[in-house]
Amino acid sequence: MQKQVYTYTTMPVIELKDISKLYGFGDATTVALDEVNLSVEEGEFVAVMGPSGSGKSTLMNIIGLLDKPTHGVYLLNGRKVARLRSNQRAKARRDKIGFVFQSFNLLPRLTALENVALPLAYRGMSYVKRMKLASAMLERVGLQSREYYLPRYLSGGQAQSVSIARALINNPPIIIADEPTGTLDSGGSRLIMELLSEIHKNGTTILLVTHNPELTRYASRVVYMHDGAIIHDEPTTLGEVAPTARRVMYSLPTTTEEDDLAGISALMKAIPGADRPTNHKNSSKKSKKKAAAKKRRSKK
Ligand SMILES: Nc1ncnc2c1ncn2[C@@H]1O[C@H](COP(=O)(O)OP(=O)(O)O)[C@@H](O)[C@H]1O
Ligand SMILES: [Mg+2]
Repeated sequence: MQKQVYTYTTMPVIELKDISKLYGFGDATTVALDEVNLSVEEGEFVAVMGPSGSGKSTLMNIIGLLDKPTHGVYLLNGRKVARLRSNQRAKARRDKIGFVFQSFNLLPRLTALENVALPLAYRGMSYVKRMKLASAMLERVGLQSREYYLPRYLSGGQAQSVSIARALINNPPIIIADEPTGTLDSGGSRLIMELLSEIHKNGTTILLVTHNPELTRYASRVVYMHDGAIIHDEPTTLGEVAPTARRVMYSLPTTTEEDDLAGISALMKAIPGADRPTNHKNSSKKSKKKAAAKKRRSKK
């Protein structure tokens, strides 16, 4: 029987309170995240959108325990992450979160099967058992016949499927995918999205960073970022493109500065009130100040 979907607990699985991330210091300080607040419930499929440099990867890396915030509180399953000892943190990273990267991050000299089995090696499991579990996981992602292939002999979509199998091998309740279809053609992209969708239907919480408005069809919620802040957050209907994303027509991936500028202005136009001061609890002080100044100017 299929696991029950959308079993909301009263406690969010992920809770960020005023999370900031600063790089560098003095005049060279970059504010990658500016007091971000975000709560994610079990079973949600959150798409994260925003122009490049808006802080999406920084946010995912902090949620995925690959990076630490400069300020703020992060609660994972109600526990303060900052309080975890390094071995507890490593264990949470291994058991709670599966990470999927745009560049697959497969080890080139290992077969698909060995790549998928790799995270199990840290648990002291026997070789035979590891290979058996990895084989079952490859079957689940539809790559049974590619077990002994090296990554370079796989298509992009297949390689990403292998990395999803590796992310799933410890059965984590959360999957974070940072632009997993960014380098794939439409066929590969569809393969990956169908796979993530199937994993979501089985109850896994998913965070997906994407530039492609089409892919918000798979999400139950879309979060829009700009300048290190969450500027809009909307629930969406599974199977439908999110209303705001539909109006955002920026190209993917944004490779030039002009693309980015076009993307930002499209995003700003699409989000009601994004260029005005809002009462949104996630809008940063900095952007509120900027917006207030803009409003004053426009009144003159
Ligand atoms: N390791 C780093 N050192 C310095 N600045 C960084 C580092 N990582 C990210 N940044 C900066 O933080 C901001 C947000 O980056 P990032 O989270 O990668 O954005 P996105 O994923 O939305 O493209 C950018 O201005 C980027 O240049
Ligand atoms: Mg990124």
